[in-house]
Amino acid sequence: MKKKWAVISTWKMSLQGNAKAADLLQKGSTAAEAILSGIHCIEDEPSYHSVGYGGLPDRNGRVLTDAGFMDGDTLNYGAVGALEGFRSPADIACSLAQRSANNFLAGPGAAEYAESHGFEKRNNLTPESYARYLEEKDKHEHLKAYQEHDTVCFIALDSRGTIAVSTSTSGLFLKENGRLGDTPMVGCGFYADSKKGGAACTGFGEEIAKGVLAYRVTQLMADGHSAMDAAQKAVDELTAELTERKGSCEQLCLICMDKDGNFGAGANSPFPFVYACEGEEPVLYLLEPGKSLRQVRPEDITID
Ligand code: GLY
Repeated sequence: MKKKWAVISTWKMSLQGNAKAADLLQKGSTAAEAILSGIHCIEDEPSYHSVGYGGLPDRNGRVLTDAGFMDGDTLNYGAVGALEGFRSPADIACSLAQRSANNFLAGPGAAEYAESHGFEKRNNLTPESYARYLEEKDKHEHLKAYQEHDTVCFIALDSRGTIAVSTSTSGLFLKENGRLGDTPMVGCGFYADSKKGGAACTGFGEEIAKGVLAYRVTQLMADGHSAMDAAQKAVDELTAELTERKGSCEQLCLICMDKDGNFGAGANSPFPFVYACEGEEPVLYLLEPGKSLRQVRPEDITID
C-alpha cells in the first residue's frame, strides 16, 4: 500500500531527528525539508563522533566532513567532500543540487562555495574528539568503520510523492587528508529516483563504492524486488563477491525505501535504524545478520 509519507534513517542516533522529520512530513513539508531537519539533529550533537560537531578527526587532527543530497523527482544531486569548518555539510550538498553543473565540490573549493553562499561556519573539532585523537593517533594501522555508528542517512517520501535522500559524516577516524568515502558519491552512498525508490549506505566507504551499492539497491527495487529483499540481496552479493576476491569484506549497512514508502534494510553486521510513516510513530529496529528483524527499545541496545 502506498504511504502518504514515510521516513527512514540510520542508527539509533537518528531517533530524535527521525521524529522531527516525521512531524514535518505529517504537516506537509517537503521530503528535502524533513530529511535536512532530521540530519541537523545529528550534525549538531557532539556526543556522536562520526558526524558534524564532535566528529573524529583525520590523521592531521582536522575534522573534514562529507555529505550528499539527491532529489528523486529531478535526479539532481549535490555533494561536498573533505569540507572543513561548516555547521551543516548536508545543507550545502542540498544547495549544490540546485545547480546544473559544479554539483560535487571538495576541499577548499567546497569551503569557498559555502562561505560565499552564507552557510554557517563552525569548528567541528571538540575538546573531547581532539583528546581521543591524541590518545589513538599512533595506534591505528588498519582503518575500520566506527564500531558503534557511522554515516547518518535519511530517506523520505513526502505527500507529493517525492523521494529525497541525504547523507552526512566526518568519515573514517584517522583517514588521510583528502580521503573521500561513499557518503558524498552519488550512486555509492546515496541515490533517489521517485519512480523507483531511494537508498543510502553506511559502513566502510571503500567497500560500499566497489558495489555502487545505493544505485544497485534502487535498481533491484525497480526490477520488482521488495525493499527488504533488495537491501539484503545487494549486501549479501557484495559481501560474497569481496570475500571471494580478497578473503574478507568490511562493514556494509544500508537503508532503502520503495516508491510507495515501504522500507528495507540490509547489513553484514548488527545495524539499528529508524522508520516512521503516516499513522506509525518512529520505531527503532535492529537488523542482525542471520536473524529476523526486530523492534527494540533504545535502552536495550548499546550500538548508537
Ligand atoms: N561510510 C563513511 C565513510 O566510509 O567515510
